[in-house]
Amino acid sequence: MVISSEFVSREDIRNRKFGEVWHTLIPYVFKDVPEYYDVGNAVASLGTYPLWTRTFARVVHARMNDLPRGAKVLDVASGTHDIPLRLLAMNPGLEVHAVDGSSAMIAEGQRIAKERNFTIHAQVCDAHSLPFPDASFDVVTIQFASRHLEVIRAFSEIYRVLKPGGLFCHNDMLRPSSRIIEVPYLIFLRASVWCTSRLFGASKEARRCVGYFADAIHNFYTPEEMTALLYELGFTNVAKRSLLTGTMCYHIAQKSMKADRYLLELFADPVPEERATMR
Ligand SMILES: C[S@@+](CC[C@H](N)C(=O)[O-])C[C@H]1O[C@@H](n2cnc3c(N)ncnc32)[C@H](O)[C@@H]1O
Repeated sequence: MVISSEFVSREDIRNRKFGEVWHTLIPYVFKDVPEYYDVGNAVASLGTYPLWTRTFARVVHARMNDLPRGAKVLDVASGTHDIPLRLLAMNPGLEVHAVDGSSAMIAEGQRIAKERNFTIHAQVCDAHSLPFPDASFDVVTIQFASRHLEVIRAFSEIYRVLKPGGLFCHNDMLRPSSRIIEVPYLIFLRASVWCTSRLFGASKEARRCVGYFADAIHNFYTPEEMTALLYELGFTNVAKRSLLTGTMCYHIAQKSMKADRYLLELFADPVPEERATMR
């Protein structure tokens, strides 16, 4: 894995600008919103959010067709389990794990899962340090969360826990590639987050984040940059689809087999001819 200096410095800027918000305010925001999170998202996105997440979940499901029954899926920063619930509805045979930094979001997700008779193995943890051994999962998903994370650190963890050849499915609101889209979009986003927070009586901390959501997108990656970053992190076969040049965008990438093959070869028993010459 070789990360170019451009991405390292972009991450550095994001950490300096938003590190404090991520550590101090974001946990309070997601403690506050579980009951109105889904409705709030639908309002803030003028109804596109549920359609886009449904499309993403269907694409993930279609890409998982070759996997055996009981394939292991991990949803990182799972919130109220939107993606796990959609995947289980399409394929109840999956073994689904979920992690999130907010116990309140997980509790709401678990309540819905129980209501629908689904099992989701959930735990509270930081997305930058996943409590699973290397190569544990066939598929890892993350939706609407990487804007709030140190992307290189979090995606490296995802790479580590994926099995060789496993799929990484990423969905988020990215920075639009087109300035003509970006400028009005961020004005709209600021206004809609403000209205949503007032409408649902958000906490003081959540109200202090109103400007953050648009700023975080302005400092985030465009769809093309996200593709380049995924390749630099070692993923292959990166495919993407975006709405309005990145207001919503998903990427499906694969963990390379190559690095692991290289390691296997390095530690494998010598082949018979080599053994003969070694005697
Ligand atoms: C916008 S919500 C998205 C939830 C869910 N993935 C969805 O699509 O509905 C962002 C989630 O990221 C979680 N989160 C933010 N920073 C995190 C971190 N460092 N580690 C784990 N979870 C984090 C929040 O608790 C929240 O549940």
